Amino acid sequence: MIYLNGKFMPIEDARIPVLDRGFIFGDGVYEVIPVYSRKPFRLPEHLQRLQHSLDGIRLKNPHSNSEWSAILRQLIEVNDSEDQSVYLHVTRGVARRDHAFPKGAPPTVFIMSNPLLAPPQELLATGVAAISGIDNRWLRCDIKAISLLPNVLLRQMAIDSGAMETVLFRDGFMTEGAASNIFVVKNETLLAPPKNNLMLPGITYDVVLELAEAHRIRHEVRAVSEYEVRTADEILLTSSTREIMPITLLDGKPVGKGSPGVVFEVLYSLYQEYKLTVMRGGEAKLKVES
Ligand code: PDD
Repeated sequence: MIYLNGKFMPIEDARIPVLDRGFIFGDGVYEVIPVYSRKPFRLPEHLQRLQHSLDGIRLKNPHSNSEWSAILRQLIEVNDSEDQSVYLHVTRGVARRDHAFPKGAPPTVFIMSNPLLAPPQELLATGVAAISGIDNRWLRCDIKAISLLPNVLLRQMAIDSGAMETVLFRDGFMTEGAASNIFVVKNETLLAPPKNNLMLPGITYDVVLELAEAHRIRHEVRAVSEYEVRTADEILLTSSTREIMPITLLDGKPVGKGSPGVVFEVLYSLYQEYKLTVMRGGEAKLKVES
């Protein structure tokens, strides 16, 4: 079942008019929220990022956070899986085609849920291949916009060369992946690029940095150069649907020893443990151990 503009229905019955600005202009924003044991993971943070994206495109939020929570609760309930990946999408509505914002068009709200499958153990054991690419996207990558053509093309480049992800570089520095955030380990230090307009502020990225802080894993948030990525001991990717994965091959060359490294192993198990704690109703935010 999906949710469309106030109604729950089977996806086969869902229709939107062809003049929807999402279809015509890619004029909208989205979120992907992981759900474990039927509980949305870091929902307040996802809703906060949704607000940031809506503000970024000057579209009024059609719902309060409690309304979003109630809709999501119902949608999660009517879908079968315990673990779900919820895709939530808001567009500037239906109007005669004109670039200028329409007056009085109600936004379109579409939410679907798919089973959330954890990354296969074989891939976690070997790590995945990535290629590099030039980050040719716009300068507001902090907005989670549905207009994803550059990301689609960049990710397809990886698929075409048998890899899983494209690591993006802009002006000599790493920004993120085509559909993930990227971390690097060098000299036993986890390096993360600082959040800015050139990357999506990942929710999983935040969890990883909080885990590093709480468990005293050496880390630095600073610009990461292309050279540092290419000579890294480890490269990790993070996203809501793929959690944390090791990249062990970049442009056909082994990363470090060419197998998942110790920082990945530690962060992966901390992440799994943290997920379980949260799902059992424990701390939503990590506290730094004193
Ligand atoms: N994408 N950067 C980009 C460009 C992304 O598309 C994503 C996630 C991330 C990771 O953010 P988070 O940890 O909040 O999922 C970073 C989602 C999963 C998608 O488009 O399907």
